Amino acid sequence: MLILGIDTSCDETSAGIVEDGLRVKANIISSQAAVHAQYGGVVPEVASRHHMEAMIPAVQAALNESGATKEDLDAIAVTAGPGLAGCLLVGLNTAKSLSYAWDKPLIAVNHLEGHIYANWLDRDPVPEMPAIILIVSGAHTELVLVRDHGDYELLGSTRDDAAGEAFDKAARLLGLGFPGGPLIQRKATEASAKPPRLPRAMLGSSLDFSFSGLKTAVSLLVREHPGADDATRADIAAAFQEAVVDVLSAKSVAAVRESGIARLVIAGGVGANQRLRERLGEAARRHGFRLHYPELEYCTDNGAMIALAGALRLQARRGSPAPGGFTVRPRWDLASLRPPGKLEERP
Ligand code: KG4
Ligand code: ZN
Repeated sequence: MLILGIDTSCDETSAGIVEDGLRVKANIISSQAAVHAQYGGVVPEVASRHHMEAMIPAVQAALNESGATKEDLDAIAVTAGPGLAGCLLVGLNTAKSLSYAWDKPLIAVNHLEGHIYANWLDRDPVPEMPAIILIVSGAHTELVLVRDHGDYELLGSTRDDAAGEAFDKAARLLGLGFPGGPLIQRKATEASAKPPRLPRAMLGSSLDFSFSGLKTAVSLLVREHPGADDATRADIAAAFQEAVVDVLSAKSVAAVRESGIARLVIAGGVGANQRLRERLGEAARRHGFRLHYPELEYCTDNGAMIALAGALRLQARRGSPAPGGFTVRPRWDLASLRPPGKLEERP
């Protein structure tokens, strides 16, 4: 089975092609990071316009790279939400048009479910269920219990900023650029042996997160050191990263222990963070749970993960899915999804 997956939820225009629900045949990502860098964050209107330009070339490039033709495709999967409304509309309308013109089934995919299934792309072994999932993206920070495919329970989420958003804001305060995650990670490697200690919010109380206080702490430190040299900025970057990673790993371990499910799956862009992977690796050894994370290239937004999540839902579907009659859902909770094939919700 060959599925084309399309994602335009934020600032990456992506088209991927996945075979038999596992093997990536193509994964084209046209990033707008350089465009948004000048504003220090994603400007939705600008992002939508760039998706308009980059979408069809991305689909063409994915077909070329995979060596497949449109006739070979079994279905088209597309992110319908959550994400920026104007951006989602470009991907969804493209997918609807292609589905109509090529006479292929259309599958609406939840972007967060896509991030989870990035753990299945070119991976062996793949995660088993049930599992605890830590979703850490630019817009979401959640701990989720997945009982079986498509059966989710929200255990905790952020009360303010998402982890990726905090990385982006801290990088901006430090004048490092955008997107902040990889830049903070790199800067932190230049830190001294004794960086300052920043606050860790809500440790121990619940599985919810809060990162806005940390952002304020970074901004106070930056204000205390006007025109801070490189070494000071590296120390602040390391202190920030350590605080975020500390909270993410402590709460993940708590979710694993409280649920009795000895399997943790990382999903979303912040899952690319090296320090987070190190710390969770240590925790997994100490507490005896299995740890899964996607290949680095599939951590951030990509079409291949959407194709894979779509394949799973298509396989389970009885009858032929009707193309077209749905729209975008800028907010779309995982817990509202139904297992594939079981009274599946159409957005
Ligand atoms: O999952 P994603 O690609 O987009 C959303 O669905 O939001 O995540 C993007 C986020 C950005 O905030 C970016 O700064 C962060 O992931 N990120 C990282 C790293 N690579 C990307 N954060 C920390 N360390 C990284 N290496
Ligand atoms: Zn994402």
